[in-house]
This record gives sequence, structure tokens and C-alpha cells, in this order.
Amino acid sequence: MGREAQASKKRDSRRRKKRQGSSRGRDSAGEARSELVESEPTASAWDEENRPRRVFVCIGPSCSDQKSRGILTELKKQIERQELEDRVHVYTATCLSHCLRAPVMQVYPEGTFYCNILPRDVRTIVSEHLEGGQAVEHFTYDPFAAVRWNDEIDS
Ligand code: FES
Repeated sequence: MGREAQASKKRDSRRRKKRQGSSRGRDSAGEARSELVESEPTASAWDEENRPRRVFVCIGPSCSDQKSRGILTELKKQIERQELEDRVHVYTATCLSHCLRAPVMQVYPEGTFYCNILPRDVRTIVSEHLEGGQAVEHFTYDPFAAVRWNDEIDS
């Protein structure tokens, strides 16, 4: 066996050992993963009812032009007034992708969109949806319904 062939054999051997080492690492990671699967979170850990609602108010360019800052201010005021600070968290977003319906606000866990709203509408939304749990249909927008409607027109 020539020098070159021996060197190639050594390289192959090293590569094989390296691969085995990494697969051993994968095995141990696999074990860790299966442990995670075995200890699935309890229902209460993911229970949306116990989590605070999250409200995203868009303050992107289109929404800001439609005075979304006023909505944000009114929302914080109403949440404080109705003492919902522990049950409702407010966030800002730079764009919720419905700029034509600005100003836009989205409530989770439902993912409900509120579009073309005015600061005076916020009080109703806070008391009926954020406190009462019922979306205020009059102000909601369902983007998927719009898609379905467009499909009906095309067919
Ligand atoms: S800027 Fe508000 S939805 Fe796009």
C-alpha cells in the first residue's frame, strides 16, 4: 500500500470516528428530546384563559396617519379605569398588514382584528371584549372572510 493510500485510509478512519462521535451527540440530544416529550406541559401551563389577553395596536405609518396613537392612549386609559392591567397587556406593532383599514388593532388569543376604529370605540371594545370576552362584531374585520368572498366572485 502506497503512502497516499495509507493517508487516505487514515483520513477515512478519522472521518468515521468523527461521525460516530457526532451521532453519539445526537443520541444524547435525542434522549433529551424524548424526555421533553414525555414530560408534556400540563394543560394549565398553556391554558389561554389564565394568560392575559394581548392587544397589539398598530402605530405604523398608515395607522399613525389615522390617529392610532389616540387609540393607544384611550386603550391604556380604559384598561386602567376598569382595572384590567393584570388581565390585559398592551403592545405596539409597526404594521399589522391591513394598512388600508387603518387604524388597526388586534386582540389575542383570538386574533380578532379591529379596523377603522376611533378612540371613542375603544371603551366598548375594552368592556365587551377585553373584560367580557365577546368580540364587538361591529368593529371586527375577518381577513379570511374577505378572501372567501373574493373566491366566490371569481367562481
Ligand atoms: S401601518 Fe398599521 S396596518 Fe400597516
